[in-house]
Amino acid sequence: MSIATQSTDQGLILALSKGRIFEDTLPLLEAAGIVVTENPETSRKLILATNDPGVRVLIVRASDVPTYVQYGAADFGVAGKDVLLEHGGEGLYQPVDLNIARCRMSVAVNAGFDYETAVRQGARLRVATKFVNTARQHFASKGVHVDLIKLYGSMELAPLVGLSDAIVDVVSTGGTLRANNLVEVEKIMEISSRLVVNQAALKLKRARLQPIIEAFEKASTLQP
Ligand code: ATP
Ligand code: PRP
Ligand code: MG
Repeated sequence: MSIATQSTDQGLILALSKGRIFEDTLPLLEAAGIVVTENPETSRKLILATNDPGVRVLIVRASDVPTYVQYGAADFGVAGKDVLLEHGGEGLYQPVDLNIARCRMSVAVNAGFDYETAVRQGARLRVATKFVNTARQHFASKGVHVDLIKLYGSMELAPLVGLSDAIVDVVSTGGTLRANNLVEVEKIMEISSRLVVNQAALKLKRARLQPIIEAFEKASTLQP
């Protein structure tokens, strides 16, 4: 472990993404007695202080959380199952399903597209997605041939403009699909966010991490 990446003091660094993960993690942190004293929506700072001088919060992109934790630049973090499956989970201990940011990973197509028939007839489908590993695995397990097109966001646009026949994306209320005249044709898996912990940090900083992990675990079972 390099000196540059693994902090050796007993301070803890938590990696979070802005938006729903940050918002939904705040009550869990409070259950562990930690209050973030700066707001990432109004501050341009990327390292936020908390009421505990021994705990700081890194604000990173959702898909970068596992990387910061894997390399020990953060001791722990919160990431969606979708993101973790794409990352692979290497070097990460995943002790708690936090039950937050719940949604599902689904296949969706233009309202007029007969997905079932296309699949039954063995058509080769073009599928646009940010989640290429999950999508590849899903279609391979069904024996469906696909050409995957990697996108980084707004997947719902792809079928509308003929870039793809289908998308694989997360769905919650279904509002985005409806607004774009798409229909959900297959649910791949339920998604929620997990606590992820650097494996070395878990050993070296167990005394600091363990009570926080336990508080998160307890508070997450109280999620509505
Ligand atoms: P970025 O904006 O950096 O591309 P992102 O769009 O994945 O990342 P968020 O939208 O904050 O970032 O999503 C974080 C996590 O929340 C996702 O990995 C997923 O598990 C979950 N999620 C995404 N969209 C929804 C939603 N509409 N409802 C509930 N949970 C969601
Ligand atoms: C996510 C996801 C879908 C939408 C699904 O987007 O990428 O587009 O939520 O939610 P719904 O079923 O409730 O409409 P998000 O709100 O994170 O916007 P983003 O494009 O900035 O990721
Ligand atoms: Mg999003």
